[in-house]
Amino acid sequence: FKVPAPVNEPVLNYAPGSPERKALKSAIEAARSATADIPMFIGRKEIHTEDKQEIRPPHDHQHVLGHYSKGDESHVQAAIEAALAAKPAWEDLAWEQRAAIFLKAADLLAGPYRARINAATMLGQSKNAYQAEIDAACEMIDFLRFNVSYMSEIYAQQPGSAKGIWNRTEQRALEGFVFALTPFNFTAIAGNLPTAPAMMGNVVVWKPANTQIFAAHVLMEVFREAGLPGGVINLIYTDGPVAGEVIFSHREFAGIHFTGSTAVFQQIWKEIGNHIGNYRSYPRIVGETGGKDFVLVHPSASINMTSTALVRGAFEYQGQKCSAASRAYIPKSLWPELKKRLLEDISSLRMGGVEDFRNFINAVIDEKSFDKITSYINRVKNDPQAEIIAGGDHDKSTGYFISPTIIQTTDPMYVTMCDELFGPVLTVYVYEDEDFRSIPRLIDSTSIYALTGAVIARDRYAIEWLEKELRHSAGNFYINDKPTGAVVGQQPFGGSRGSGTNDKAGSMVNLLRWVSTRSIKETF
Ligand code: NAD
Ligand code: ALA
Repeated sequence: FKVPAPVNEPVLNYAPGSPERKALKSAIEAARSATADIPMFIGRKEIHTEDKQEIRPPHDHQHVLGHYSKGDESHVQAAIEAALAAKPAWEDLAWEQRAAIFLKAADLLAGPYRARINAATMLGQSKNAYQAEIDAACEMIDFLRFNVSYMSEIYAQQPGSAKGIWNRTEQRALEGFVFALTPFNFTAIAGNLPTAPAMMGNVVVWKPANTQIFAAHVLMEVFREAGLPGGVINLIYTDGPVAGEVIFSHREFAGIHFTGSTAVFQQIWKEIGNHIGNYRSYPRIVGETGGKDFVLVHPSASINMTSTALVRGAFEYQGQKCSAASRAYIPKSLWPELKKRLLEDISSLRMGGVEDFRNFINAVIDEKSFDKITSYINRVKNDPQAEIIAGGDHDKSTGYFISPTIIQTTDPMYVTMCDELFGPVLTVYVYEDEDFRSIPRLIDSTSIYALTGAVIARDRYAIEWLEKELRHSAGNFYINDKPTGAVVGQQPFGGSRGSGTNDKAGSMVNLLRWVSTRSIKETF
């Protein structure tokens, strides 16, 4: 059995008049008018509850897209039991059979389900067509296909043997079940968090953020159609702490695959610590968390490249990307021209609902996010240490819209240089050119995070020096590019320090976290 060599899924461009645009428009229309009734999936069953929660598009919060059935502790318990019941058969299934299910899921997403999962992502998370395509279609498909390929390499690796001795390595699934917790902001993350452990023979309880459910349930339908046996991945909708309380106190809890905020991950780690004596094995703790991603511009940088990197890096996906550029260090010599160019570039960005494909900026995910981000913006309005040089407007009357905002500060430790706002806000600090060599240390002292970062320079000595100086400042480091847009199979993604355990999403490193190796020696 040879796994097909993976290639990155091509990004469709949804040009006016194209068949893919027509299909996507129809899928959006169908999803908007259907009033979905979304169940949980536990074992082989769809579970509906009396507790129906509304789903509304963030850019059009008067419209109800449907409801999901909210669960409680009993559903978490049922999901664990269903997972453990499915475990013996699933881990015994030949890995090639498991691989085939996920390859089939990738093909379904690339073909018949593409428009539907993109439409669900656009409406549920307020992303434009191009952004949804990159996230829910391409990155998701890439995670599935590349992980299958890495999986095949892992199972193929065997130790050396000697005369009369046959050594073997067995990659066993973990004992117990894995808990996968996905955030709201990327549908594709669900193509990795529950599936990477499942591929390696584990059974999973998966809880998405409530604001991700509209797309998550489509993915679960894809897995079922691809032949995933009931109970291998169980999809539940509860509040995080409700699931956490049952799961982290369960003896069979074998590991967590988490993506979300740093605060929640640290809280979860503490809870796991509180129960550490009760588990059968030490749980695997894998988490990708927050970021405060930087762009450092050298005096030799190109103005064009810098402006594009900042505008795309900071404002695509409304800045609701863990990798988004949110602080920039600009030399004084470049600032007047760069500022002019940034203001021009930003003025061409249209904001509005996702149904109009011309809109580049859409809404932030919900009212809580809107209020958090705008409270920082409003604070700047009365602060002598900072000024808003672009944007700053916001309106939540019909949707949670915040215009792309640039703040300039004279204080490199200013609050918006340090805190993760997770919105369309970039803070700029202008440094004296001769102070350039102090900026890497400033980048490190300003933030607890180390997720992504970019340097923009033409000077080769500067590039080499920065690459070394910023060695631990970003798990994904970009030279002459924006700090976003890692592609599976090309730039394995993840950060360290406050940004996570750096077990690179979409890599062999990650898959190895979901097995427990047995070494077998046989003598003749
Ligand atoms: P979040 O931390 O609020 O939620 C993540 C998940 O944890 C959700 O499913 C949520 O319901 C659950 N949860 C919340 N509290 C819990 C608790 N006490 N116990 C158990 N589960 C709990 O994150 P979010 O707002 O959905 O996502 C945004 C955050 O995710 C940002 O900080 C962003 O940087 C980060 N993120 C990181 C990466 C990465 O790869 N590093 C990628 C995407 C998002
Ligand atoms: N993988 C996404 C990026 O790199 C989050 O921007």
